[in-house]
Amino acid sequence: MKKNIKPKIAVFPVAGMGTRFLPATKASPKEMLPIVDKPLIQYAVEEAIDAGIEIMVFITGRNKTSIQNHFDKAYEIETELERKKKMKELDLIKNIIPSNIKCIYIRQHQPLGLGHAVLCAKPAVGDNPFAVILADDMILSSEEGCLSQMVNKYEVINSSILAVEKVKTENLNKYGVIDGHKNKDNDWELVNIVEKPNKEDAPSDMGVVGRYILKPSIFDILEDTVQGLGGEIQLTDAIARQIDIEKVYAYEFKGKRFDCGNKLDFLKASIEYGLNHEELSKELKNYLKSLDI
Ligand code: G1P
Repeated sequence: MKKNIKPKIAVFPVAGMGTRFLPATKASPKEMLPIVDKPLIQYAVEEAIDAGIEIMVFITGRNKTSIQNHFDKAYEIETELERKKKMKELDLIKNIIPSNIKCIYIRQHQPLGLGHAVLCAKPAVGDNPFAVILADDMILSSEEGCLSQMVNKYEVINSSILAVEKVKTENLNKYGVIDGHKNKDNDWELVNIVEKPNKEDAPSDMGVVGRYILKPSIFDILEDTVQGLGGEIQLTDAIARQIDIEKVYAYEFKGKRFDCGNKLDFLKASIEYGLNHEELSKELKNYLKSLDI
């Protein structure tokens, strides 16, 4: 079967205020909150690199310079680590971004919603398919990362794809919820998508998680998408219109997803990533077993 062009660009909307995590996010971005020893945004970028992405486009806002600094060279600390011959630590910070990867930073001047943030990436993305990764959705998978799984699909279907998972009825109002039918490959062919519906109005129990591969036609649609839920320009509303002009699919990824914008999920992610961490796993397991709860 003929393979289609893989997306090479990923967009990371990181301009949000992180109000669910105050006061931790008063002066530093939520994307810099660490799970074990890496900030959320680094996990997201690593997932993109593993999926073959070469250009990272960050849509930033106020108080987000630490994200730029994190992916930049840090002369002082690198010189200091070199002087102290701390090569392991030096390696950890030097190789966060391999040399073939480019980072682009675009400022979203007003918090007008996820759709608007994605539209801000248009000058960097142009007429190419691209991924969108929401860093506070962390996906732990034992084999390929979620975005790699989606890129493999994209190569075959050459259409927009959204990652979805089954969501409890009482939580459907926190997600974009799809309407569609499953095809022979077990993917959903969408007929509609609704942003954060009441449970009575939800067209299914499949919610969108923060991984998308989008065809560039979404930009023209976003340009004349009006404010939707919460007065924001919703990516979901633009996708609903993209469905009218071309095929859009949803893919049930393999892996476990944590909403790290939520305190309980953040703690769960910390524990699960800790249990998978080669230096911490054994002792953490023993500690958890020792808790009298
Ligand atoms: C956004 C999207 C929503 C999607 C969710 C996934 O909502 O608007 O459709 O289901 O991300 O995390 P947010 O969580 O930014 O409110």
